[in-house]
Amino acid sequence: MCGIAGYIGEKQALPFLINGLKKLEYRGYDSAGIAIYHEGRIEVRRQTGKIAELERSIAGQTIEGTQGIAHTRWATHGVPSNRNSHPHRDTDGHIAVVHNGIIENYLELRGELEDKGYTFTSETDTEVIPNLIADCFKGDLLAAVEEAKARLRGSYAAVCMSQDDPGRLIGIRQDSPLIIGYGDDGNYFASDIPALIGYVKSYTVLKNGETAVMTKEGVTIYVDGSAVEPEVEALTMDLDAAEKGGYEHFMLKEIIEQPRALKDCLSGRISYGKHVVDLGELKLNAAKMEKINKIVMVACGTAYHACYVGRYIYEKMLRIPVEVEIASEFRYRDPILDEKTLTIVVSQSGETADTLAALAEAKRKGSHILAITNVWESSIAREAHDVIYTRAGLEIAVASTKAYTTQVLAIYLLGLYMAELKGKMIRREIQTIINELYRLPDKVQKIFDDQLDTIKAMAEKIADHEDAFFIGRDLDYVVALEGALKLKEISYIHAEAYAAGELKHGTLALIVDQVPVISVCTQKILEEKMISNIKEAQTRDGQIFAIAFEGDPVISSVADHVCYLPKTNDLLAPILTVIPLQLIAYYASVKRGADVDKPRNLAKSVTVE
Ligand code: M6R
Repeated sequence: MCGIAGYIGEKQALPFLINGLKKLEYRGYDSAGIAIYHEGRIEVRRQTGKIAELERSIAGQTIEGTQGIAHTRWATHGVPSNRNSHPHRDTDGHIAVVHNGIIENYLELRGELEDKGYTFTSETDTEVIPNLIADCFKGDLLAAVEEAKARLRGSYAAVCMSQDDPGRLIGIRQDSPLIIGYGDDGNYFASDIPALIGYVKSYTVLKNGETAVMTKEGVTIYVDGSAVEPEVEALTMDLDAAEKGGYEHFMLKEIIEQPRALKDCLSGRISYGKHVVDLGELKLNAAKMEKINKIVMVACGTAYHACYVGRYIYEKMLRIPVEVEIASEFRYRDPILDEKTLTIVVSQSGETADTLAALAEAKRKGSHILAITNVWESSIAREAHDVIYTRAGLEIAVASTKAYTTQVLAIYLLGLYMAELKGKMIRREIQTIINELYRLPDKVQKIFDDQLDTIKAMAEKIADHEDAFFIGRDLDYVVALEGALKLKEISYIHAEAYAAGELKHGTLALIVDQVPVISVCTQKILEEKMISNIKEAQTRDGQIFAIAFEGDPVISSVADHVCYLPKTNDLLAPILTVIPLQLIAYYASVKRGADVDKPRNLAKSVTVE
């Protein structure tokens, strides 16, 4: 996830810009840059790699100025490279901009600006912003920014400055955080609190739609052209708490970030009311897809569970056989695949050794490889023929949460894309699913808003047991697999997931003494069967915790405890049903006093076979 720092005041800007960026390093990045205004000119320095490399590249140079902006970039549009790094400038180099987020209509804007003679030097969406501001600039930077802002679609936190209207920094925000810090010697922008610690004692979080004009004397915030009173908070957090966004653990922060991560994953790829999925320039085109007669999905751990969702939905959507494989088994089985097989590898880190080895084996056999990963230019991204990035942002907790939901979302997008290529679904059906995908981030947020207490109470009960069982049917079963993994890896409760119908073939013998049976029950056509399975467990003294869609009276009449989720299309249920399961694992782990973010014996990225 990108980071922003900005300063205008009495002191030299460079030391804060570098230190501010360093405090944002925990967010993850692949390049960094600064822009500083001095005596009528903006100097820009950009460098791929760590901030230390940027420092090395400017060592010995005099970069003076008391007004500047800086950025750490986590690539989304365009590979990590010096020319794609921020700050970006307009064609004449008079306006500099740093930006977090995704400008969805950047191709349209870029085309328009190119027609007017503006030139672009990067592959980024960001570069349209300085050029658009330049196009609107008639001597007043604020007026130009407001005019340009009205043309931007997507998410942004951006700060800009102009050598033709110096003495102020202007910040805008829509769906990406931007914070204003008030210091004794000047004022500050940052995308997150850690950058401001030690520099300011109070701050304001800019709200969506607001524009902040910052000078060395003060800050004015505008909404629709009128100045508004800012809400100023005292800065009391220490660095550790600030990096966790005020949450006790990274895992909780990452769970709560999911609406934003899902929006980023969708951004620019679908449009409400349209049937088209834009996944960039995939080599997997209609001609290639025509020949595909089997899909193999390969991954480890949580990513393997995301593949399982893929299997169920691709078989429904595409009517192509799908195999799901554990990467560490796959390569030694001499798997049967050829150029007619599409191999989809899924990996958050893009560095998992087992998955990488499986990829190599599939590639050797002539299969087309499509990777779904969170990390730009990771080994898996580099080795694959095609890549879809999940855009979850850096995930620090060992237990994967936002990486899973964005993997599943990317799997849906790919499914719709392939269905369109193969003509397997009618456009109206695709459009209905796209419209519902659009609503999913808000529905995830609604779970946090309405169900947190219920989920916490469930987790506290489950935490008192040493065993737990997760059951479900169809897409509810594949989410049960992920729920069980989450619970065991961070709370150390022994947890198993079963297809609900399988319980009676052996495992029912273990359902005694109020053992928790967490039952995922959203698939309408299987509801009656699911109720029978719940009854089987309850009769043996199992304690039933159900996850169901709101307005389902049948479940509440049989389960002991119910968490209700906003209704969605049954096909898309996994993105919602997994949320309470992640939270149950989290709160159970907290109650048992386990190390939530760094569970024993586990590593975030497993680079050995
Ligand atoms: O980086 P990857 O997605 O390839 O990692 C795969 C697994 O190691 C990972 O999902 C692991 O299972 C998580 N700790 C689960 O929360």
